[in-house]
This record gives sequence, C-alpha cells and structure tokens, in this order.
Amino acid sequence: MTAGSRHQDVLDWTGARWDRLPSAPGLRARSGEMAARLAAEIAAGRLPFLALPFMDALERDLAELEAGFLARFEHMLLLGIGGSALGARALQKAFAPSQDLPNHRGRSLWILDNVDAGSLEAHLSRLDAAKTLVYVVSKSGDTIETIGQYFLVKEWLQKALPVAWKDHLLLNTDENKGYLRQEAASFGIRALPVPDNLGGRYSALSAVGLVPAAFLGMDWRALVAGFRSIAAPLADPGLNAGKLAAHPSFEFALWAKALMDAGYSELITFFYIPAWACFADWFAQLWAESLGKDGQGSQPIPAVGVTDQHSVNQMFLDGPRNKACLFVERGNGPAGPAFPADMPAIFDYLQGKRFGELLPAEALGTRMALCKNDVPLVLLRLGADDARAAGKMMALLGAATLVTGWLMGVNPVDQPAVELGKRLAKARLGASGLEEEKAELAAFMGPAGGGSGVREF
Ligand code: PA5
Repeated sequence: MTAGSRHQDVLDWTGARWDRLPSAPGLRARSGEMAARLAAEIAAGRLPFLALPFMDALERDLAELEAGFLARFEHMLLLGIGGSALGARALQKAFAPSQDLPNHRGRSLWILDNVDAGSLEAHLSRLDAAKTLVYVVSKSGDTIETIGQYFLVKEWLQKALPVAWKDHLLLNTDENKGYLRQEAASFGIRALPVPDNLGGRYSALSAVGLVPAAFLGMDWRALVAGFRSIAAPLADPGLNAGKLAAHPSFEFALWAKALMDAGYSELITFFYIPAWACFADWFAQLWAESLGKDGQGSQPIPAVGVTDQHSVNQMFLDGPRNKACLFVERGNGPAGPAFPADMPAIFDYLQGKRFGELLPAEALGTRMALCKNDVPLVLLRLGADDARAAGKMMALLGAATLVTGWLMGVNPVDQPAVELGKRLAKARLGASGLEEEKAELAAFMGPAGGGSGVREF
C-alpha cells in the first residue's frame, strides 16, 4: 500500500484462501448471468434498495423534518423489529454514542424491538410524553410485536396528551396496505411510506433508518452518498459481466458461496471498530433471513474486537474448521490518552505509547492468528469510521447478500420459514382460524401441557 492510499477504504483478499474454494472459478463465470438479472430486476422496480428511486424525495422530506417537526422533541421512541429496527440501532450506536456515556445531554433514541413487558413499562413510566416522538416502523403494518406495543403506547400518549397525541406519532409503513396505514388514514396521523419492494432488512437507507439518523443529528447525507457510490454502478443500465465481476459485492458474494460449497458453514463478522458492533447484528439479520433457505446458507456470527478475544475467539481459532471471517477495521482510530510514565517494569512496552495503540495491535494479532489457523478471511479496512464509509459498507454487504442468494438459487428477499412460529404464537393467543396450528400446538404440548421429556431439576 502506498502512503497516499493510506486513508482509502480497501478490501484485502490476501487471506481469502481461494485455494480451498474449488467452486470459485465456476461461480466467477456467472457474472454475466448475474449482471443480466440485476438489470432485469432493477428495470422491473424490484430492487429499490440499490436503485434508490425514492431518495431524492426522501432527502427533501428529511431536510424539512430535521428543520421543523423533529426539532420539537428530545426523545424518539422507535417501535419496530428485525429490519425495522436493526439499521437504526447500528447507526445510533456508531454515530450518536454519547447517549451511552455519562452525563448525556441532548436527544435520545429508544428502540423497543421486543415484547418485553418490563422494558415497555419502564420506558413509558420514565419518558415525558410531551417531549417524545413515537416512531412506529412496520413495512407490513401488521407485525404483532410492533403493533402490540403501538396499542399501548398510543393509549399512553392519549392519556398524557388528550389533544396533541397525534402530533407525537410518526408512522412508517406500506403506502397502501396494512393496519398501520389504516391508522394513519383513520386518525390523520403523520405517515411516511416504505417504498414497494423494499423489505425490512434492505430498508436501512430509507426513512426507516434515516429518520432516526436525522433525529440524532448524524450526517445522513454522507451515509447516503457513500451508499450510492457502491450501489449506483450496480443499478446502472450499462452494467455488464466485466463490470460486475470487478465490483466488490460480486467478489464477496462468490467468495461466500464458494465457502458454503466447501463446507464453511459459519461466517464471522469481526468488527474491530467497537462502536460499530451493532453493524454486525444488522448484517447477521440481513444474511440469515436472506440466505438461510433450503438447507443452505452460512450462519452469521457477530463479534466485536477486542471484547470477543476474551470470549468466543478460542472457538473461532481452534474449534470446528467450518468458519470464515469478514474482519472490519479502520485505518485511523482515536489516539486516546498517553500511558503514564510510572508503570511497572512488566508493562515497559507501553512506555511512551497511547491507549489507542492497543486496538490496532490487538486487531493485527487476532487477524494474523485467524489466518495462521486457516480461517479464510477478508479484511475490510476503512480509511475512517465515518458516515460515508458506513454507507459504502452497507451497500457492499446488502448487494453481496442479494447476489449470494441468487448464486445459491434461493430468494434472498423473502423469509418463509419464520412464518410458522408467528402463526403458532397467534394460535396460542387464540386468534380466530388457525385450527391446524391449534391442533399442532396441542399435540406438541402433550396432555399435561408439556412435552413427554419434562423432568424436574
Ligand atoms: O427483514 C425483514 O423483512 C423482517 O425482519 C422484517 O423487518 C420484520 O419481520 C418486521 O416486519 P415489518 O417491518 O413488516 O413489521
């Protein structure tokens, strides 16, 4: 690497272990097929997450919201789950970390992405409704976890603010269908659209993630610019086999599929940018829901350096040899304070150094150890951990997930297997219909309300 390129964002494939991936050349030869498919899907309007046809209007809306409506509130309470929450949380933790620091003053975002009664009650008893905007995000508008919370939070707002409650709600849902859209229409609640064909886990760069980002004052324009710089070539009508083959998302996709073919069933994402740990969770959901199909896929394993060096890293290094790794680090982190001069002799090597030097040294140590232990590894080194780099990374990983699914022959934008559990939970709660599910539940629970293997311990 030259001195001039030190701050560039790079993917380093040195440790990718192509030598262990015999299906890679055949997959690489499919770039023409994949380019044609991308062009067709984009022309049909089925990939708005790459083509971003809604973005110009959204940028105008965001600028207006930022200057007016959002500025009225100190707190945002986001109700959403899965893809409707994880992007916002990753952006919050990466770019508005002060909320987790002592003496925080300023705006706060609270994300409720569970059905934890204790947490809901705690938030509602502590938040001042008059200073709170409730942002309800659900593409379908019918998700029980989100809508169940919405009923209670709406009642809380109505009690606290009998006249103004509607002005403390912002909904983000499908433009035409779903319960939340009906609510918007019935009560005249302010609502934004989730564009057609933009599934939850691909929607972070829509109002789903960008409204919270704008609320927190982050540089969402740079995030969008970074995202566009990677996504635009894929959405360009001039895309062809050669251009796709040279695009990093295709390289990543074919690496990932070749790894699966060679029996690597787990994909670690090791983030050595501590504040970016939640991007690993965002990616895990994206990858798992998109690709866990027909007995195929690789299990995403989110990890954060250096914390997980003292946790799961032993398994990464010397457990089953079924793991590959995407290793994410930044070129320049904060230097931090200098170590004091009067340290014990056994820590001599820290003399004259700064605290910020530990992280890159440990990152290097762990990365090299993974490589030495034959873990196929791709390094994503970002010149800076800023919003632009985050946008680039999100586009890279989103596009790579999509193309990996196509190479696998699965549909990366649905998630049919998770529907069964949802139907069973509804049946358990007594929803009408679902007779088959109710009978299956009864059989599963057994006559005494528990399985036949129950033992006291
Ligand atoms: O990625 C997805 O599509 C899912 O994880 C959804 O985001 C999640 O199920 C929530 O769905 P909705 O936004 O319809 O409430």
